[in-house]
Amino acid sequence: MIGSPKPVLESILGAADLAQKIPEIEGVPSGVEGLDELFYTVVQERGKPVVKPLGGLPRRAAVHVTGTSDTGKSLFAEQYALAQAARGEGAVFVTVETPAPFVDAGLEQRRLAMGLGRDVLEGVTLVDAASHGELREDLPTLFATLDAAFEATGARHLVVDSLTGLYEAREMTARLIVRKVYLYAKEKDVTAVFTSQKRSSHEELSAEAAGGYAVSHILDATIVLAKRLVMTQAQSKLWGVPLGEVVRFLRIDGCRLSGHDTKTHYLELLPEGLLRVGPPIGASSSDA
Ligand SMILES: Nc1ncnc2c1ncn2[C@@H]1O[C@H](COP(=O)(O)OP(=O)(O)OP(=O)(O)O)[C@@H](O)[C@H]1O
Ligand SMILES: [Mg+2]
Repeated sequence: MIGSPKPVLESILGAADLAQKIPEIEGVPSGVEGLDELFYTVVQERGKPVVKPLGGLPRRAAVHVTGTSDTGKSLFAEQYALAQAARGEGAVFVTVETPAPFVDAGLEQRRLAMGLGRDVLEGVTLVDAASHGELREDLPTLFATLDAAFEATGARHLVVDSLTGLYEAREMTARLIVRKVYLYAKEKDVTAVFTSQKRSSHEELSAEAAGGYAVSHILDATIVLAKRLVMTQAQSKLWGVPLGEVVRFLRIDGCRLSGHDTKTHYLELLPEGLLRVGPPIGASSSDA
């Protein structure tokens, strides 16, 4: 007979004791203009709660960026990594679908568009899981490789583009894989951006079943990117975009670690290949 279950006493924690150990919430500039102001924090001023802009993604968050194909997830990931490198914090960038030389070419273009010097690329370390299948198929091997990358660089940020490629053909275990990657980011005490591919059949601007496997439930924050083809005069008038063109949107679907804006915003793709968050839809008179 199995003995009576033993309590795991170290799992019982007092909220007040724990609060003393939690560092103050801080914003990490994302590299995407217009996004950082959309995260908030609450402070007490003369005993009253006051909402203040956080100025970036909450530090130590694992942020999920999801959307269908060509919505800007990889651009987001690249801009984020470069912005961290530019601030001297360094990023480890796991590329799961696109081999590293192509990502590097994208980073170089983004660097030029962001007006950053060539040396900024030294702050981004690529881990090529697209060319090395064992990194995609075996998480302990991926984590051992990441350990080496973090040890060599002291980077404070982790980017994975995309998580979906880590559970391709293993969809039953997707949730487990995402949880392990999430816990790895926590263990390393890094701020993370994880992209995932959303199936087009799901409601466009929600993260519902993004990637199909409740990735959003596990990660700390979710940003949804979407695009629509303008096909009617009504849409053209509503969004102020000519017929036949694409209009892009961004929405913060949720964030566990800080307050955030809940509106749907226009997302601009600048000609030089940079994302920029615009005003909320409905803000201009043409939306009326
Ligand atoms: N250098 C560039 N200049 C202009 N536009 C670009 C540039 N690079 C990418 N784009 C465009 O930006 C959009 C978003 O591309 P991105 O690669 O970020 O999409 P994605 O969401 O990662 O798609 P996928 O799910 O296929 O990986 C696409 O429409 C693409 O054509
Ligand atoms: Mg991509």
